[in-house]
Amino acid sequence: MVTYTEYDCLLNLVRKRRTIRQFLPDPVPDEYITRIIETARWAPSAFHTQPWEFVVVKDEELKNKIVTVLEQLGPPIKDPAKESLERKSFKDAPVYIFLLCDWRAKVGLPGQASENTAQVTNLFNSSLANAFLYMHLAAAALGLASQWYTASSRLEVESAVKEIIGIPDALTIYDMMVVGYEASPPDTKIVRSIDDVVHYNDCGLQDFRTDEEVIAYAEKTKAWCMSQH
Ligand SMILES: Cc1cc2nc3c(=O)[nH]c(=O)nc-3n(C[C@H](O)[C@H](O)[C@H](O)COP(=O)(O)O)c2cc1C
Repeated sequence: MVTYTEYDCLLNLVRKRRTIRQFLPDPVPDEYITRIIETARWAPSAFHTQPWEFVVVKDEELKNKIVTVLEQLGPPIKDPAKESLERKSFKDAPVYIFLLCDWRAKVGLPGQASENTAQVTNLFNSSLANAFLYMHLAAAALGLASQWYTASSRLEVESAVKEIIGIPDALTIYDMMVVGYEASPPDTKIVRSIDDVVHYNDCGLQDFRTDEEVIAYAEKTKAWCMSQH
């Protein structure tokens, strides 16, 4: 008989994992970092190519260089309502983990997929997203806080960070995970209801949201997200 114990554990963990944007400087044990990456090793990847590498940055000087680049060139997300306040920042966190994609692994894809750039990009980005999410869930399971930081949003950001940490040309940065202990708890998250998102069998236009509903909800989530930064 199926009991929901395992499922409940999983759902609790999924709900516990939140994006934290303000960290304490307290160090994280190396063992925890290894455990975070251990989960990612088991993530599903396209044709089991496992095109990932992980760079753990703890060195203060390197971190400062990365912070400078990301703050200058990173995603310009600013809540105008908080213009005068000090912005929340990942910079106090003790560890940054970069998840890299090694594109040479594409030779492990079957048939012509490895020669189709759009297909390889799609397959590898999905593979890396799996690994990355596992890492964030593992951090939450260890009582740690984490932030998914888009460190490759623009070519110049990625190149600058690659140079700081010495990444060869064949590899790119998927994204950066900020790891530490939370300095302030996240706000309650709004999520779409199960009835709104699930559809069965033969669906038609009437099963999905109207353009107006999509726009109205997007405005709500955008405002919520902005207030979290
Ligand atoms: C692809 C992707 C990119 C993201 N990039 C950033 C980012 O650059 N900075 C940030 O603070 N959060 C980033 N996030 C986190 C989202 O803003 C966050 O997951 C969302 O607001 C929901 O909040 P939650 O993570 O607390 O559940 C990213 C999330 C994803 C999936």
